[in-house]
Amino acid sequence: MSFNNLDTLYRQVIMDHYKNPRNKGELDEGSLTIDMNNPTCGDRIHLTLKVEDGIVKDAKFDGEGCSISMSSASMMTQAIKGKDLETAMKMSKIFSDMMQGKDYDEGDLDLGDIEALQGVSKFPARIKCATLAWKAMEKGLKE
Ligand code: FES
Repeated sequence: MSFNNLDTLYRQVIMDHYKNPRNKGELDEGSLTIDMNNPTCGDRIHLTLKVEDGIVKDAKFDGEGCSISMSSASMMTQAIKGKDLETAMKMSKIFSDMMQGKDYDEGDLDLGDIEALQGVSKFPARIKCATLAWKAMEKGLKE
């Protein structure tokens, strides 16, 4: 696939997650709750995670933000559901490396739609949009 076609495909994936967010909403009380702002714009994410036996059983998000931040949250919740904590943190590290334009090794992990965001690394002002949901998830799992 040519670069241009890949770009168009990635843009469509991002817009699809923005318009039809996966895992939008809030889990019931007793779930891990994380609220985080993007300091550069004030947009926010409200993330709830259900962790049992070291596995992320469920994840939902709510909030307000640009298409990059909300689609990234949608992709992130989709990616970490059913993963153990170590794998979820590893995915977060891969995503962080991707955003910094570093080489990353996904090993046998399926990054799925996440790779659609790799072009964001070329726009430093938007990187915090893309990493907001991942930072919130990391904060929750570290607690
Ligand atoms: Fe606020 Fe992207 S502009 S999160």
